[in-house]
Amino acid sequence: MNATHYLADWRPFPYQITETRLEFDLAPRATRVRSRIGFVRRGDGDLVLDGAGLKTLSLAVDDKALPLSLAGDGQLIIPAADLPDSFTFEAEVEIDPEANTALEGLYLSGGIFCTQCEAEGFRHITWYPDRPDVMAPFHVTINSDMPVLLSNGNPVEEAPGRAIWQDPWKKPAYLFALVAGDLRAVSDSFTTMSGRKVALNVWVRPGDEGRAGYAMESLIRSMKWDEDVYGREYDLDVFNIVAVDDFNMGAMENKGLNIFNSKLVLATAETATDGDYERIEGVIGHEYFHNWTGNRITCRDWFQLCLKEGLTVFRDQQFTSDMRSPAVKRIHDVQTLRARQFREDAGPLAHPPRPDHYQEINNFYTATVYEKGAEVIGMLKRLVGDEGYRKALDLYFERHDGQACTIEDWIAVFQDATGRDLTQFKRWYTDAGTPRLTLTEDWADGRLVLNFHQETAPTPGQPEKPARVIPIALGLIGPNGDEVLPTTVLEMTEPAQSFSFDGLGARPVVSLLRGFSAPVTVDREIGADQQALLLAHDTDPYARWQAGHDLALDGLILRAGGRDGGEDFNRALAGVLADAGDDPAFAALCLSLPGEEEIATAISARGGIPDPDAIHAARRAQMLDIATTHETALARLYDAMAQPGPYRPDAEGGGRRSLRLASLAYLSRLDGGARAEALYRTATNMTERQGALEQLIAAGRDKAALADFAAEFGANRLVMDKWFMVQPLRAAPDRAVARARELAAHPDFDWKNPNRFRALIGGLTANHAGFHAADGSGYDFLAEWLMRLDPVNPQTTARMCSAFETISRYDAGRQAHARSALERIAALPGLSRNSSEMVTRILA
Ligand code: PHE
Ligand code: ZN
Repeated sequence: MNATHYLADWRPFPYQITETRLEFDLAPRATRVRSRIGFVRRGDGDLVLDGAGLKTLSLAVDDKALPLSLAGDGQLIIPAADLPDSFTFEAEVEIDPEANTALEGLYLSGGIFCTQCEAEGFRHITWYPDRPDVMAPFHVTINSDMPVLLSNGNPVEEAPGRAIWQDPWKKPAYLFALVAGDLRAVSDSFTTMSGRKVALNVWVRPGDEGRAGYAMESLIRSMKWDEDVYGREYDLDVFNIVAVDDFNMGAMENKGLNIFNSKLVLATAETATDGDYERIEGVIGHEYFHNWTGNRITCRDWFQLCLKEGLTVFRDQQFTSDMRSPAVKRIHDVQTLRARQFREDAGPLAHPPRPDHYQEINNFYTATVYEKGAEVIGMLKRLVGDEGYRKALDLYFERHDGQACTIEDWIAVFQDATGRDLTQFKRWYTDAGTPRLTLTEDWADGRLVLNFHQETAPTPGQPEKPARVIPIALGLIGPNGDEVLPTTVLEMTEPAQSFSFDGLGARPVVSLLRGFSAPVTVDREIGADQQALLLAHDTDPYARWQAGHDLALDGLILRAGGRDGGEDFNRALAGVLADAGDDPAFAALCLSLPGEEEIATAISARGGIPDPDAIHAARRAQMLDIATTHETALARLYDAMAQPGPYRPDAEGGGRRSLRLASLAYLSRLDGGARAEALYRTATNMTERQGALEQLIAAGRDKAALADFAAEFGANRLVMDKWFMVQPLRAAPDRAVARARELAAHPDFDWKNPNRFRALIGGLTANHAGFHAADGSGYDFLAEWLMRLDPVNPQTTARMCSAFETISRYDAGRQAHARSALERIAALPGLSRNSSEMVTRILA
């Protein structure tokens, strides 16, 4: 059984560190790490240090050797009675970076030494209080013949074979980083608001220098934006980013030395899509913004993870919104939230943004902590206003700089800066589950009464769900399409509450939850005509898109249930297509039908059992109808949105390409893939290339294009990840598992590389009807690969277990197959703590 950690058990660490000095002798199989750590007592208790997989060679306190037998399994405990009030602890350990396939601690990626210490990786490097509330300045010496030697902070000394780095800002161990390798820099500089010049480097492998320019531009934009919008200035002389190919996550905000998954750094028009470029800009921003929200102010314990992640996601969303299109960004974020977080909240893995217990913290880097954590801040901002938000953030930085904080600290700055009581609001942090907001309306004599109900279903461990404060932004649209009430924010605090609007001439349509003002699901009576009216006239772009989306979803659900549906949406699209050219990105969003997973979720939320094959067929039929009805307009758009000049990875160009590809998806239902084939051959950018390839796969006309793609990009890992991903993703459902199996046998399926593993296996799990094949073959395939990966890389394995989190919504046959697959995983001898926690929660 795994041990469970509880928030209630947190106790302060009874020592303070004055300085952490580390010296590394790097060698692939046997790296020596010598540490010298100055401690000062500040409370009662033994000195407890964490360590994992270390070969301990020597231990000492104040130059007096300690018995090696003190180093236990995971912990080293020195009784308080044996320690003076201030002392130096020293250790020498040996570690094996080459054997480190879990990619946690010090490891090798393509010959580059690199580290990953969040959350608890530092204990794989040496004995240390590996907890975020223990902060210290670090002094790091690296001995190695690698040409580039990097660590946190500022360089103190650089000589062949040796480098010394000093980080003056105290930090917890999870922000430590070290990199050593044959790397090349793309360099630039940034002058901060107070006039300090900062050297900037993006480090890549030789040959990749031409692909790092966009990352550098994004970094400079991020630094400027954080000064302009949050008044935050960078605080070291250098800022380094390193791209590595083997990485469990997206990127890591180590102080002054961010380490990135190379897919979030490297891009050219020919190899990266618009989505890749947008993600690069967003994640570069995210990691940079962590310097203040995460590093200067960090978390007291890992239960508070959303303190830094929710806030930093919120900040990177604002950044992208400012750099690109606010409407499109908001709609994308809502789509992601629904697809990932609502799904999590509705299943066995549901947990609050601030959980109060966990077994393995790595399993809590979730959509709830990140994306819902960001939504909660968006609500706070809406409730206290822009000025209140700015005041609260200023106070947060002023009051807590240099500290390790809690959600309580965060809420307190909002209360103190604005005078608002946030007791009820705090439930958003402590309670799991997505509230369901129900609206019924009464209309008489020019008066509209809106009756709201809120209800949240029980989640694991939380049977009772008291009412939350829900900011409901709404407007009213008159029957002629005029806005009769501009955006107004209602604050719902009770389980049931009514609001009325008087003096209205004719009954308006409510434009509800504008800007997606709260992360709730909405249940309301609304006719197709009213939805079409909103789609045509709403002044709020999110609400406008949502109206069309709901209309489409209703039609698809009817069709999946074997009934007629979808004509209303089909008709309403005429208007969208007519002015598509005015805002191509928005039109593309309106044209894109809800995905199969979303349809399944909606069916299940309405009490039905989703049939993946019927959903797939319904969606295809709806696409064919739309294509047939609007062929002329779609064909015109497809031609009009052709690449007008050189590729530019900006919002405008991306918008045109997204509309072109949305049109192509429909037209391919009519032309059997002829346009896609032509586009595949002529496209000069990866956005169109990949878009065309996906249509060819869906149309079963992919052989030549796939061979050509592999021939052209075979040497480019990141591009080949796309090749491995789109095939299982876009294959017809009855062929998806077979396709995935073939690809898994391909010599280039380097499954120990997390990007490659996620591309192929994740591509299949994202093919809804393919993965949920009635015979259980999708589940079996996933289980097989998870069992293979678990001993090698538990973190990536455990994250992918969540593909099973929705099984209880399907029929008994599928459930039985999925359960038996999960039980096989559970029974794997030596199953990691990571995966065992996930499987147990899903099976519970
Ligand atoms: N803290 C990183 C981020 O949010 C994510 C991360 C977590 C990376 C754990 C690696 C390991 O950007
Ligand atoms: Zn983050």
